[in-house]
Amino acid sequence: MRLGVLQETYPNERRVALIPALAPQYAKLGFEALVQSGAGAGAYHTDDAYRQAGAQVLPTREAVLAEADIILTVRTAGANPNFEADLPYIRAGQIWVGFMEPLYRPQGVQQLAARGATAFAMELIPRITRAQSMDALSSMATVAGYKAVLLAAHLSPSMFPLLMSAAGTVSPARVFVIGAGVAGLQAMATAKRLGAAVSGYDVRPATREQVESVGAKFVELPLEVAGAETAGGYARALEEDTLRRQQDLLGEHLIQHEVVITTAAVPGKRAPLLIPRRVVEAMPAGSVIVDLAAEWSGNCELTQPGEIVQHGGVSIVGAVNLPATAPIDASMLYSRNLYNLLAHLHKVGMLAEPTPDHTDEIARETLVALGGRITHPRVAPSAG
Ligand code: NAI
Repeated sequence: MRLGVLQETYPNERRVALIPALAPQYAKLGFEALVQSGAGAGAYHTDDAYRQAGAQVLPTREAVLAEADIILTVRTAGANPNFEADLPYIRAGQIWVGFMEPLYRPQGVQQLAARGATAFAMELIPRITRAQSMDALSSMATVAGYKAVLLAAHLSPSMFPLLMSAAGTVSPARVFVIGAGVAGLQAMATAKRLGAAVSGYDVRPATREQVESVGAKFVELPLEVAGAETAGGYARALEEDTLRRQQDLLGEHLIQHEVVITTAAVPGKRAPLLIPRRVVEAMPAGSVIVDLAAEWSGNCELTQPGEIVQHGGVSIVGAVNLPATAPIDASMLYSRNLYNLLAHLHKVGMLAEPTPDHTDEIARETLVALGGRITHPRVAPSAG
């Protein structure tokens, strides 16, 4: 089978779905890599590096789309607003793999399905031990959490660490991270390493131990959150009145912190609104909020995706696609996740003969489209 690697077309995307080092490993599985010229440039991988690794470099996107059996992407379908330009070139039976936003923006996978493509979505890799090496949501969230803190530190008018000098003592910045999933925990650990006084909060009580294990203080709110966690470990969306109470309780903590990183998300749903305008207006001037949920409508009411909004002296960063700002490491991690998934799908026969009824959980759960229709039960209802 021939793998196609495209230059990403999401705005400012610099990651690539295959780093040259992995081409020989794919070759061992019997896959030949066809790489669009320039595809690796954003992550500093030259066409020559791909050729030396045994890949073929093709001059145009159209050539790769025409010749490849499997298209490897970072962001496609619903995860890429520029995806539609590829639609006319997609062939029935061609396999597409990448981040696709199948739950939140299902129109993209619907379009892939309508072209007869077979699609595997990285967002749907089950959170089970066996699939950890394929879990690109986690690897990319780690990069995003780290970068969110650096952004906040850069924009903050205060320094993060405690510093003693002959001229006086600088107190550590107070950093509050909301949402203690993969991105949130990495943000807490990073802020801690920079010397800040870090607090963390999550609606899932089970996160207390994880928050404390990275050296942050767990903030507990007097909120009834029974059933806040699904069997898969994800958060459930809160009822409107609980969310409102959560906003008020969180507000009391927010005004005591000068840096806030928000990461709260509920898969397939718009992100919970945790910081309304009234709370921003009560925060001290100079505060910085980095909203990692900006792509899913944001945890802060004033968030604008891709922009830094100034409001009464508070900066609100609508952080979008942060992993693309560390393209070398993010491409390496993502390429490995993708390789591990492909090797697995190959091993269980899911590439040669894809079926929605496969006995293997990873193969079955990641498949979203086959034979002209959406096959995934969680995607199908939202796609109508
Ligand atoms: P996510 O990106 O879906 O959400 C981020 C965090 O926001 C979650 O911790 C969630 O509880 C929190 N959140 C949602 N609504 C909230 C609200 N109203 N207020 C405050 N916080 C709110 O989460 P992520 O990082 O994808 O992790 C989800 C789960 O998957 C976790 O339980 C994690 O431990 C688990 N996981 C398991 C893996 C494995 O076993 N292979 C690998 C990675 C994650």
